[in-house]
Amino acid sequence: MEALKGVRILDMTHVQAGPTCSQLLAWMGADVIKFEPPQGDATRGQLRDIANADSLYFTMLNCNKRSITVNMKNPAGKKVFIDLVKRCDILMENFGPGVLDRFGFTWDKIHEINPKIVMGSIKGFGSSGPYSDFKAYENVAQAMGGAMSTTGVPEGPPFVTGAQIGDSGTGLHLAIGLLAALHQANRTGQGQYVEVAMMDGVMNLCRVKWRDHQRLEHGGLSEYSVPTHAGMGETPRAGNDSGGGQLGNAIQCKPGGPNDFIYIVVQEAVWNALAQSIGPSLGLPELASDPRFATIADRRKNQSQMWDLITRFAANHTKREFMMILNPLNVPCGPIMSTQDLAQDEHVRGREMYVELDHPQRGKWWNVGMPIKLSASPAIIKRSPTLGEHNDEILQQVLGYGPAEMAQVKEAGALSLPPKK
Ligand SMILES: CC(C)(COP(=O)(O)OP(=O)(O)OC[C@H]1O[C@@H](n2cnc3c(N)ncnc32)[C@H](O)[C@@H]1OP(=O)(O)O)[C@@H](O)C(=O)NCCC(=O)NCCS
Repeated sequence: MEALKGVRILDMTHVQAGPTCSQLLAWMGADVIKFEPPQGDATRGQLRDIANADSLYFTMLNCNKRSITVNMKNPAGKKVFIDLVKRCDILMENFGPGVLDRFGFTWDKIHEINPKIVMGSIKGFGSSGPYSDFKAYENVAQAMGGAMSTTGVPEGPPFVTGAQIGDSGTGLHLAIGLLAALHQANRTGQGQYVEVAMMDGVMNLCRVKWRDHQRLEHGGLSEYSVPTHAGMGETPRAGNDSGGGQLGNAIQCKPGGPNDFIYIVVQEAVWNALAQSIGPSLGLPELASDPRFATIADRRKNQSQMWDLITRFAANHTKREFMMILNPLNVPCGPIMSTQDLAQDEHVRGREMYVELDHPQRGKWWNVGMPIKLSASPAIIKRSPTLGEHNDEILQQVLGYGPAEMAQVKEAGALSLPPKK
């Protein structure tokens, strides 16, 4: 049985941060009702690759959901919303600050309508504090949560990371909060309000940089390859340094293309085996006992020389060949995989992490699969809904409206935009 079978979610989220969360919950079996304005989630039309078809931006974040269009600026639309709130376990939204309040639905009001409902909100900066009135997108959160200032190299500008830690990362945080609050509501009969700010989520994901920020009060950071000193104040950008207790770096391999790199962690326990393996072909048969690299402290101090030697060795091997050399030595390592590498990777396909789907508007397409594997409740991934695909179904099945009531709410404009004058 699906883990969240029987849980119904009223999903007012849009763009990426909220839909990431509701898609995961849908993959765990929740009945997610995507509640859209009559013109739909804006991402349906953004970055389109096929004319008149829902964009991949939308389809990749809204699988296994049902779609209903409701005009919240229309009294009949608000009535449909209230009826849905009464029948759902979770309500979630990631509007800009104050949008739901302007519709007349503060958390207090929602709680009054359905005391057991759990409500989840994503905001850029939360509902309190000097930034609370501001909107946010992914890179704004990366900028303000500390990620950008610590990504890149000291002599270059701050960089964003391709992983969507501001949007999707915040969606993951929200999913955890919602499930905890739902568990509590099932015991107490009382829902609660769950808020996740994107800036907070990014700070959480940058925890090790805060570790280093405080260590800098007491001295330099010996594992960093870039200069650091006591009293430096801010954690510096450190290129591809490992960020952990073990030394690590991205090493260029043959033939030298943009993704011909392998990330290697020279774990303390593997140095001997690694040095014995690569030393002879570098003309350094005694590398394992070389005093420059004898202890981890020596390797930290002389790490640029160590990386140079490993890079010299790697120049004769592709990233896959180097991986094959390192795996038997138990050296933690990973070739830098491009999207093309991953799309064709046997391991990825075997774990159903890149799955083919069909869609009435766009035909065959691919989605990234479900990364959380439940042994008794595997996710079955189904395509995203077209706009308003389930309007009638939801009015009938979920709200129990009969034909007369359905006709009435439609006539009153609950599900559509007012006609242009
Ligand atoms: C993402 C974001 C910047 C987009 O800004 P935006 O496009 O201006 O959208 P907003 O959420 O502010 O506003 C949505 C509008 O649609 C309207 N709307 C939404 N659902 C509606 C419905 N069912 N019926 C009628 N109107 C609806 C709202 O009333 C609002 O219009 P208003 O400003 O006239 O009240 C903003 O939503 C935001 O900051 N969200 C929180 C942080 C976040 O999640 N960001 C990451 C997104 S990946």
